[in-house]
Amino acid sequence: MKLPALEDLPLEPNSCALVRVDFNVPLRDGQVEDDLRITTALPTLDWLLDHRTRVVACGHLGRPHGSRDPAYSMAPVAARLGELLDFDVPLSDALVAPARDAALAQLEPGRVLLLENLRFDPGETANTPAFAAGLTAGCDVYIDDAFGAAHRAHASIVGPPRLVPSAAGRLLEREVRVLSGLLTDPARPFVAVLGGAKVHDKLGVIDALLTRCDTILVGGAMAFTFLAAAGHSIGDSLVEPDRIDDCRRLLADPRLRVPTDVVVAPALAPDVPTHVVAVDAIPDGELGLDIGPATAAAFAAEIAGAATVLWNGPMGVFELAPFAAGTRTIAEAVAACPGFTVVGGGDSAAAIRGFGLADAVDHVSTGGGASLELLEHGDLPGLKALREGTP
Ligand code: 3PG
Repeated sequence: MKLPALEDLPLEPNSCALVRVDFNVPLRDGQVEDDLRITTALPTLDWLLDHRTRVVACGHLGRPHGSRDPAYSMAPVAARLGELLDFDVPLSDALVAPARDAALAQLEPGRVLLLENLRFDPGETANTPAFAAGLTAGCDVYIDDAFGAAHRAHASIVGPPRLVPSAAGRLLEREVRVLSGLLTDPARPFVAVLGGAKVHDKLGVIDALLTRCDTILVGGAMAFTFLAAAGHSIGDSLVEPDRIDDCRRLLADPRLRVPTDVVVAPALAPDVPTHVVAVDAIPDGELGLDIGPATAAAFAAEIAGAATVLWNGPMGVFELAPFAAGTRTIAEAVAACPGFTVVGGGDSAAAIRGFGLADAVDHVSTGGGASLELLEHGDLPGLKALREGTP
């Protein structure tokens, strides 16, 4: 997919660039807990700063639903960004012109102003033209580097490309190149590993991947709806009854594989007794919380022989030690695979980084929902806006 690039922008020293980033990062005790989404935006910011551009960076944090809530302030993000850039990054409470004009007037070439959480204004998620115009006012160009939010048709994502010359940032460009490449020209065998809790989120992407993958390995809580569809009794495991028919239809494809054994426990807690059972022997009153060792070994063997691997979603409740083994085995197999390896954003990205294996994979996406939607639909509102909207 061809997107306008930074080099295509009519930039001059002193130009002002509005840069949409995805700085929706986890916070703990008022500090950024994981700065992946900040560090991955640096190549774009550095390029603009090297070109003596005045950068207005903007993004969202959480879902404050259109009103100001200090718990969702971008202040910790401004502090971390300033540390990484090695200069102070002021935070502008005012999101749009004219209230923002004074802060913009003080912004020097080669410096960054960060705007407060865009979702403090209801115009952002409602995608009002007035909010997009106010955000873009005073800016000469727009750069979208917010891959993780490119599936949202929000004002800061789809509005500015209609108003000023626009381009994809380095992160967005790479994410789209890698993920679209999986759809167009994957080296074979192409193995997808899908997990996570919600089966309804993944049905569309499974359909899309079945037209391209050689094998799809299903784990995580979503596997239990498939196991129910296969006629197994699943005890108290998570299930989406209204998706059982969809799962039954998908199970008819022999390329889709589900667990043969699982780790079960009477409750989701760190200190409960656990045991491994075959999927046709899940006891009443217990719930499945991880794939079993036989499944993990079989999935790892498939991954070892793959030329392309896409992994999205943990195999179990990996945050709790008794239910982490399946996800760890998959993470290790993906890391060891000599083929081209891609890990989707969200929980699987957190898992592979938590296990210290992120450097061993070819691409860890910063987008959870965005990467799934791009794989399912081949396009996203933010990408379409960049392609169509540049004046
Ligand atoms: C994400 O974290 O997936 C993106 O930043 C999008 O956030 P949202 O799901 O709240 O729109």
